[in-house]
Amino acid sequence: MFNVQSIRDDFPILSTLMNDKPLIYLDNAATSQKPLSVIEEEENFYKTSNSNIHRGVFRLSEQATARYEATRKEFADFISAEKDSEIIFVKGVTEAINLIASGFSQSILKEGDEILISGMEHHANIVPWQIACEQTGATLKVIPVLEDGSLDLLAFEALLSEKTQLLSIVHISNALGTINPIKSMIEKAHAKGVPVLVDGAQSAPHMEVNVKELNCDFYVFSGHKLFAPTGVGVLYGKEKWLEQLPPYQSGGDMIEKVDFDGTTFKGIPGKFEAGTPNIAGVIGLSQAIQYLQNLDREEAMAHEVALLKQATEGLSEIDGLRLIGTAEEKASIVSFVFDAIHAHDVGTFLDAGGIAIRTGHHCTMPLLKRFNVPATARASFAFYNNSNDVDCFVESLKKMKSFFL
Ligand code: ALA
Repeated sequence: MFNVQSIRDDFPILSTLMNDKPLIYLDNAATSQKPLSVIEEEENFYKTSNSNIHRGVFRLSEQATARYEATRKEFADFISAEKDSEIIFVKGVTEAINLIASGFSQSILKEGDEILISGMEHHANIVPWQIACEQTGATLKVIPVLEDGSLDLLAFEALLSEKTQLLSIVHISNALGTINPIKSMIEKAHAKGVPVLVDGAQSAPHMEVNVKELNCDFYVFSGHKLFAPTGVGVLYGKEKWLEQLPPYQSGGDMIEKVDFDGTTFKGIPGKFEAGTPNIAGVIGLSQAIQYLQNLDREEAMAHEVALLKQATEGLSEIDGLRLIGTAEEKASIVSFVFDAIHAHDVGTFLDAGGIAIRTGHHCTMPLLKRFNVPATARASFAFYNNSNDVDCFVESLKKMKSFFL
């Protein structure tokens, strides 16, 4: 039996007050809370082990290097990557996609080529490709989103062509919660010789990710949504792709030899890790994945499915509330609008009761345009939320309605 209370005890912030009420944190899609083990490990690193990596011959530096590199291996195992060198530490999904888009722009894309994304992408998986297209004369193609918030898969197949150089697709929509059928999309893309990048910002916190089974070419993660500190993330790429792409940033640590006549670069992963990285963040990430590995992830998922069901049923009882995103396959994210109450007013009302949700465009303006709404209110659940959180959320919305209308 999944013991939510014992899990909640691992997250100190969940027992704090907000506006004199117990905090109910429902903005996990924006960032997740951190277990004490992650917080303490980062603090301990600075207290006892801080030093730069890959540079010092002294013991402290060698120890920091060993822990940083051990995390690379732990993460490779966590997602079933074949090689540690296929794990690149980055700031997060945004930096990872920019790295790949910049590499494609410099070394692959040319006039007439196409990049295929979907209509439910986060701005971080739109704008880097728009820039890459502007720089190269390539064209951005977009898979349409259907009324229930799922992808138009027939249109997807029709959009894959010999011009397509990459399919870059979100696994779980941050704004709708839709879980895209990426395994079959990857198979279809590969059948046409098209490589696939998966934006896993929202998926890794909710489900186990196995890059070998998915056979994706790139998969990108943000640590801060994965119960780890902010400012650290992972770009997984198949070795053959990472070797082919040029460096993204340059400077210290990513070089083999520098001379005024020219410079040679390290192989992967070092080629993509210029400058001093977020060492403490990587060590925090190591604790976060250990924390997840000690959870029964199937039970955690089942618990989140139950929260989603409870929230969806509760919201559907409220007149004037419209869910945006009702696809069959959904993660524990609910987005909704009221005809007569602006999403920001919903968020402010809930906040007064200690309930944190996100309101706005969720960095998905084209998607909200597709649904003809300027903003939604969004509650996103993690495994440490409980049914009391959902009850309070639904009851507060009912109270809010009688307050405003
Ligand atoms: N992308 C994050 C969200 O959906 C910040 O809120």
